[in-house]
Amino acid sequence: MKTRMTELFGIKYPIMLAGMNWLTTPKLVAAVSNAGGLGVLAGNHQTPDELREAIKEIRSLTDKPFGVNLTLGVGSAQRAPIVIEEKVPVLNYALGRPPEIAPLIEAVHGYGGKVIGTIALLRHALRSEQLGADALIITGYEAASHSGNVGALVLVPTISEAVKVPCIGAGGYADGRGLAAALALGAEGISMGSRLAATQDAEVVDAVKETWVNASEEDTVIDPAFDGINCRVLRNKAAEDLLEKKAFPLFDAISAGLHMKRVLKISWGELFRTANNMRKMPSGIGGGQRGLGSSMRFAVGSRLFRVALEDPVNGILMMGQTAGRIKDVPTVAELIERTVKEAEEILQNMNKQFAN
Ligand SMILES: Cc1cc2nc3c(=O)[nH]c(=O)nc-3n(C[C@H](O)[C@H](O)[C@H](O)COP(=O)(O)O)c2cc1C
Repeated sequence: MKTRMTELFGIKYPIMLAGMNWLTTPKLVAAVSNAGGLGVLAGNHQTPDELREAIKEIRSLTDKPFGVNLTLGVGSAQRAPIVIEEKVPVLNYALGRPPEIAPLIEAVHGYGGKVIGTIALLRHALRSEQLGADALIITGYEAASHSGNVGALVLVPTISEAVKVPCIGAGGYADGRGLAAALALGAEGISMGSRLAATQDAEVVDAVKETWVNASEEDTVIDPAFDGINCRVLRNKAAEDLLEKKAFPLFDAISAGLHMKRVLKISWGELFRTANNMRKMPSGIGGGQRGLGSSMRFAVGSRLFRVALEDPVNGILMMGQTAGRIKDVPTVAELIERTVKEAEEILQNMNKQFAN
């Protein structure tokens, strides 16, 4: 199955792994790349040294193209230079402002790498294209974690008709039906988060994978209560507790901020800069309080997102509506082969059905 996405990145299938905090380990990234997709490592959740090690580990597990995802403004100043020094084949950025995005794209293009911008609004898509992004991930309302307010059915055709670069649909894709639909809507491939998280290659406890299999499409909630900007998560006890705490969670935030400082080994200056950046996040992806409350919730959320990967009851588990489409825990290779085969069958059958 060839599209401009497969040609741009030199991959076999138009499927990529969405960057997912501590979940996209080198093993999972390499599994996706080895299966013919594009594996992507979320690069904000390790120390800079650990990020470099993770990139090296991916290279020891695959000789295929892979990417690193960076949320700009959240420790990216220390991490982007590593992505560039290591000549990572694909950089996928989210958020950020033109003065940070433009030099980054130029630097990656300088060594022959490709850049994908993640967006959820038409105006951000146009801006990313103008800044030089080679492809765009269009995140629909169905997605786990941060998105805008518009669903894929409207957002994907609206943006893919307005830009020239290849578009990749994200949010709600779990199978061949989703891939075929994305292609019909004007995308040239899909990015899967939740679905690839519930695979044998994902290094999370079985309880987390079972949670994905057992959840329905109605079991998620989107709200700024979890990390300061609109974020879609599993509606569990921990999520209900945070939804009830509408006041500023000041003490939780201080303790979580200190925890984050320890995990990421960042200085006081970086901690305050990150908190300040959260206050000023551009609208589009997310949408929330954009004040001191956002920074506090970001700190609280970051800690609970990590807890969720070992304890999906007491942690906050980012989860897409696509949970309702996840019924098993296959290997990454099985899932990708199955998805492409299903999509091809659907497209061929529709062609036959309507050709008469
Ligand atoms: C457990 C989990 C963790 C995630 N962590 C991140 C992250 O660190 N950075 C990010 O930009 N998106 C993150 N996402 C969102 C994904 O990149 C992607 O946009 C989303 O999963 C797509 O929707 P889907 O789950 O329906 O496929 C996360 C998603 C999940 C399920």
